[in-house]
Amino acid sequence: MASTALLTFFVLLIALGVRIYFPNLFVNGPVLASKFNSTYDYVIVGGGAAGCALAARLSENKDVSVLLLEAGDSDWEIQKIDIPGLAPLNLKSETDWDYVAERQDGLLEGLKDKRPTWPRGKVLGGSGSINGMAVVRGFKHDYDRWARYTGDTTWDYAHVLNYFKKMEDMRIPELRDSKFHGTGGPLRVEYQSSSPLSHKQVEAGKALGYPVSNDYNTGSTQGGVFHNHNNRVDGKRLSASKAYLYPAMGRPNLDVVVNAHVQKVLVEDKLAVGVEMIKEGRKHVIKSKKEVILSAGSIGSAHILLLSGIGPQKQLVKHHIPVVANLPVGENLHDHLFFDMVASIEEPLSWTTTDFTSWWSLLRYQLFGTGALNVPFGLENMAFKCSNSETLKKGWPDIQLHIFNFILNSPISAAFNMAEEMIAELSYRDAVEYGFTCLPSLLRPESRGNITLASADPFDHPVINTNYLTRQYDLDILLEGVEECKRLIKSKPMQEIGAKFLDTVPLKACKQHKFDSREYWTCAIQQRPLTIYHPVGTCKMGSQGDPTAVVDSKLRVQGVSGLRVVDASIMPWVTSANTHVPTIMIAEKAADIILGKPTPPAVDI
Ligand SMILES: Cc1cc2nc3c(=O)[nH]c(=O)nc-3n(C[C@H](O)[C@H](O)[C@H](O)COP(=O)(O)OP(=O)(O)OC[C@H]3O[C@@H](n4cnc5c(N)ncnc54)[C@H](O)[C@@H]3O)c2cc1C
Ligand SMILES: *[C@@H]1O[C@H](CO)[C@@H](O)[C@H](O)[C@H]1NC(C)=O
Ligand SMILES: *[C@@H]1O[C@H](CO)[C@@H](O)[C@H](O)[C@H]1NC(C)=O
Repeated sequence: MASTALLTFFVLLIALGVRIYFPNLFVNGPVLASKFNSTYDYVIVGGGAAGCALAARLSENKDVSVLLLEAGDSDWEIQKIDIPGLAPLNLKSETDWDYVAERQDGLLEGLKDKRPTWPRGKVLGGSGSINGMAVVRGFKHDYDRWARYTGDTTWDYAHVLNYFKKMEDMRIPELRDSKFHGTGGPLRVEYQSSSPLSHKQVEAGKALGYPVSNDYNTGSTQGGVFHNHNNRVDGKRLSASKAYLYPAMGRPNLDVVVNAHVQKVLVEDKLAVGVEMIKEGRKHVIKSKKEVILSAGSIGSAHILLLSGIGPQKQLVKHHIPVVANLPVGENLHDHLFFDMVASIEEPLSWTTTDFTSWWSLLRYQLFGTGALNVPFGLENMAFKCSNSETLKKGWPDIQLHIFNFILNSPISAAFNMAEEMIAELSYRDAVEYGFTCLPSLLRPESRGNITLASADPFDHPVINTNYLTRQYDLDILLEGVEECKRLIKSKPMQEIGAKFLDTVPLKACKQHKFDSREYWTCAIQQRPLTIYHPVGTCKMGSQGDPTAVVDSKLRVQGVSGLRVVDASIMPWVTSANTHVPTIMIAEKAADIILGKPTPPAVDI
């Protein structure tokens, strides 16, 4: 009897080991097209957040044929993508485009090579396959501003709320009946199981006097500390590819081709007629009967337009590219920034490095779906704050805090692109086991950068000028955020567990300033401002004829027919939050526009 039980146990253990190490063994992969036709009604470029959602929605209409082209590979059953806690392993790997932005005089000295890295997912699901899985819509005023600016009321929050609800399968029980949330949509939203510290931090938010709410996704808030809403299913990442594309892949009118690098849009007499694509070293031309739709992301879509002769005339001429349309492609680039601050705690309530790396953790995650590995980047909570009475009145926070419930240690600092000397200076953090990292975040940056061609070679990365922190406002907000992180650390619930601000060793580069003064923190932020990975705006949406806009409010490229851009690049202003679900919303709305469906009426809010 005992030996049978033992045998069963070992067989199960071996099966589990096989399952962990060879995840592909017993699963049927997705239906990726090995052959493709020469013509489709719609050719979508880029299988990221927007592209996957759009391909699925357009192909719901059986009368149209759709092709989705993705430069990266399939994301099917790749552990570092599926297991949330392994997300950092994607950075600087084959699933990352690994863009590197330019230097800036007197800034960024604490970053590797003094240059910001800009990871972007190069795989089905796009950046959504490597991201932090935080589901954050931003606020009513973000969308109302887009609507006012474009003169198209269907972009206001009351209208786009329809699409936020349509995409969603809300699984947080107390939010399922909310008029702000949807059930039965493709994107399942739930809480992760989180560390005891994360509950303490929500209490800290209350102690700081914020209104009590568990929903930062209604469109307005006066602030507070919240548990993150995550896009996940069975403990695994649920990107737009998993949520939208795979369920649609069997459709006879949809082909999905990976490892297909699109190098330009073919335009004849101001009409887009197809794309030129390189797959396994061979060039293919694919024709579109109705439209070409660029969903290659804020860098990719701008890059492809420039290579196709759509962009600032002077720049195109410089690279000997025939000008199709003179448009401000690549301009209006902006991004969210944050700055890392670490606090230690005396009780063992946070995650530790071992929680992300040990065998036991992997087993715990596989068996129960719990532990650090179910938390992307250790990101459990976020806080919002309105810095002044005006934003408070509107419920339109201008500061966000990202709260990672582990100590930002050397390996993660390296993944976040800090320079070796900076990592060495911060190495006192490695000696502390329990604590958290509070990152004040700039929500509505005023600085603007740009993307330009390095050369006319489609495989050369474009030049990225971030122009970070070139407006005083941006620094002011981050400085206010630094104070807010300090307030959080000093709050009563945090003091009860012995929270202490750890970064009290002055940075060498900022030694000339009194520690903890405004000048000191300005200097520290200028040393290592970190991207939150939300670049937007390079194919800005505006009203028809707006000289600063690339697309109109129907997302049509101005002056070229049969061509749209549908992704994060169209945002005239970045949403005051993380950009993944706003981008999926854009795709949901675009699908209705493209298929000529009526806009759903404004939700009564
Ligand atoms: C590390 C990281 C963490 C993040 N964390 C969060 C988070 O927690 N929450 C959140 O809301 N947002 C987060 N974001 C941002 C969010 O993921 C993006 O805003 C969102 O994915 C943008 O969607 P997109 O469709 O515009 O572009 P992407 O999702 O980047 O998709 C673009 C796709 O186009 C493909 N492509 C590009 N060029 C070509 C070409 N020439 N030919 C063919 N295909 C091409 C790319 O390979 C990619 O698959 C994070 C991003 C990163 C990188
Ligand atoms: C490709 O062409 C074949 C033959 O005409 C057709 O049966 C198939 O449906 C087409 N594929 C798509 C996705 O439209
Ligand atoms: C892009 O930014 C760089 C750096 O600030 C600037 O020199 C250049 O003029 C900008 N280009 C455009 C087209 O705005």
